[in-house]
Amino acid sequence: MKKIIVLTGAGMSAESGISTFRDSGGLWDKYPVEQVATPEGFARDPKLVLDFYNIRRKELLSAKPNAGHEGLVELEKYFEVKIITQNIDNLHEQAGSSSVLHLHGELMKAQSVKNPDLIVELTEKDNYEIRLGDKGSDGAQLRPFIVWFGEAVPMIEPAIELSAQADIYVIIGTSLNVYPAAGLLNYVPKSVPVYLIDPQEVAAYRDNIHFIRKGASEGVAELGEQLKKQYL
Ligand code: APR
Repeated sequence: MKKIIVLTGAGMSAESGISTFRDSGGLWDKYPVEQVATPEGFARDPKLVLDFYNIRRKELLSAKPNAGHEGLVELEKYFEVKIITQNIDNLHEQAGSSSVLHLHGELMKAQSVKNPDLIVELTEKDNYEIRLGDKGSDGAQLRPFIVWFGEAVPMIEPAIELSAQADIYVIIGTSLNVYPAAGLLNYVPKSVPVYLIDPQEVAAYRDNIHFIRKGASEGVAELGEQLKKQYL
């Protein structure tokens, strides 16, 4: 089976009702990124930051995977599909994708501020919220399990390895503005075909990209058609 590596961003979940970051009206228009998505912002006003992610989590609880997420699951019948996502939602998992690597953390989990390896799942019991005073088993305040700007991206190494192993590379719904995720394409061997699904033009520094200028749902359906014709 050919191995398809898929890199997804916020646009993957847009049709599930989750805001992107940099489109007009996106999250970074409404909330100053340095206040809610940096360690300095958390040190300055932890409640503001906890509330920001508590709201994001509530939104996720009422969201469902869209046809794009489902289309990627369908592709597993014909290909080995491994997903690298910049998204903190769990919609790939909810759809049933069997291999999902989260580069920027996971909204449904919390992490000790003292010990990055102490990670706990948020549940209905805590109303899916992290509040000031909520502590991990080490006695330290819990924070969102999110990679903020200025923090290391621990999953980048496995993501690089996956990118280097691709037979086919697919990019969906990311503006490719944020590194190191945006640099993963540099590790994809030159002979590997790259497909990019996005309704807007995205600057990707690579020749011969197959652009599919559509939203995730329609775009993944078209990708499936093209791949089946070409490889099966
Ligand atoms: N289907 C597919 N793509 C879409 C759709 C859709 N329905 N709607 C919008 N898009 C595209 C936009 O055209 C844009 O190219 O999704 C992309 C979203 O880009 P960003 O908002 O910049 O999101 P992303 O690239 O995932 O951001 C990367 O930045 O803020 C941080 O940590 C955060 O993981 C995030 C990272």
